[in-house]
Amino acid sequence: MTTLLIYVKNNNSMNDLMEKIVSLCKRRGVIFQSSEIYGGLANAWDYGPFGIELKNNIKQAWWKANVHNRYDILGMDASILMHPKVWEASGHVQNFYDLKSDCKSCKKRFKTEELKDKHKCPECGSELTEGRQFNLMFETYQGAVGDAADKIYLRPETAQGMFVNFVNILDSRHPKLPFGLAQIGKSFRNEITPGNFIFRTREFEQMEIEYFVRPQDGDKCYQSWVEERLKWYIGLGIKKDNIRKREHGKDELAHYALACTDIEYNFPIGWSELEGIANRADFDLKQHSQLSGKELKYFDEVSKEKFYPFIIEPSAGVDRSLLAFLVDAYHEEKVREETRVVLKLNKGLSPVKAAVLPLLKNRTAIVELAKKIAGDLKKDIYAVYDDTAAIGKLYRRQDEVGTPYCITVDVQSLEDKQVTVRDRDSMLQERIGVDRVKEYILEELNK
Ligand code: GAP
Repeated sequence: MTTLLIYVKNNNSMNDLMEKIVSLCKRRGVIFQSSEIYGGLANAWDYGPFGIELKNNIKQAWWKANVHNRYDILGMDASILMHPKVWEASGHVQNFYDLKSDCKSCKKRFKTEELKDKHKCPECGSELTEGRQFNLMFETYQGAVGDAADKIYLRPETAQGMFVNFVNILDSRHPKLPFGLAQIGKSFRNEITPGNFIFRTREFEQMEIEYFVRPQDGDKCYQSWVEERLKWYIGLGIKKDNIRKREHGKDELAHYALACTDIEYNFPIGWSELEGIANRADFDLKQHSQLSGKELKYFDEVSKEKFYPFIIEPSAGVDRSLLAFLVDAYHEEKVREETRVVLKLNKGLSPVKAAVLPLLKNRTAIVELAKKIAGDLKKDIYAVYDDTAAIGKLYRRQDEVGTPYCITVDVQSLEDKQVTVRDRDSMLQERIGVDRVKEYILEELNK
């Protein structure tokens, strides 16, 4: 095909880009605002049919790289509700605070550390209250009585579920140091300033690894995890210029961390944290040993020594990664005087791998052949059949959700038993024998 492609340099402001992505997500069934028919719940989002596929593909890529492809990391899935003492031991009850300032007039709430003038409301200029401590954990009550003794929390991180199972893992699986645990799951934080689409929400998903090492190996292992995690994003298509690492200064470190490096992404809101890699030293295992009365030490069979291992923690956000992949993949191109919007996602992450489209939906033989091809593809990959619009529109819709291949069945296909396969990125079209379609698509996806 001889389409002239002119890449349109993105000269919109970065916030325009965020708005375009939010709008694309809504019109194509990727992400919707939560409870929209009731006016929406602020900063809560629902993943639609394509959003859930993208999210699952990101989680699967992470799980494959960190659990299935390695010998030294085991997966687990702890409950969201945990014994309240967990959060005393972890330091969240005492330390997981932000300072908030409220406007005495418009009643808006601000994170004190983000205010230029700590006394003046940035929205209406009125007086602000002094910064007051605000614990970010969501509280709830279990059981029917609901008194203070029943108070529990929604977990603010998945990490603690892995620390409290340390001995269960040692006793059941007998791993030798160094080894890790990996978990993906929901976390909840009553953020004072959520916002920027799915960047900061009160309910979100994390992908966390707790990697246990000998204390003397802590620093080296921490450094190598930073590189490993950076490579993971780049391997899945994130442009090198859009990702960087930033080491925390001593004054920024969380109460549990000896060292921490953020992997930052160049989001439309500016460079911001995508993932944190921390050297948590022996803080967590010691704390849980003290409060539970159970000794969470590792016994080395060779030296006959018992000690607390150090913990290196690469902690990523699923939703934040998904936003980074969307931003990085978003392209606008001029094609025959029209703007083509296309998500040039890594093919492994694309929600749908192939769409089968009949050129004429009122020709039974064409529809039947298209459905047969889609059905056959579905046995191996996620493919869809779509006849809800004219072909040009169908191509545009698939481009906007990053579908790498569109297969078109036309009148000619009934005679020559060939279909047209269109490549998302180059828009080149090839005629392929119906009996070779699956082999061709699988080969291309595995390249
Ligand atoms: N266990 C360590 C821990 O939770 P964190 O830096 O607070 O560390 C890790 O969180 C990652 O979780 C962040 O880098 C981010 O990707 C994600 N995350 C944290 N808070 C979030 C929020 N309110 N909304 C969306 N993602 C969030």
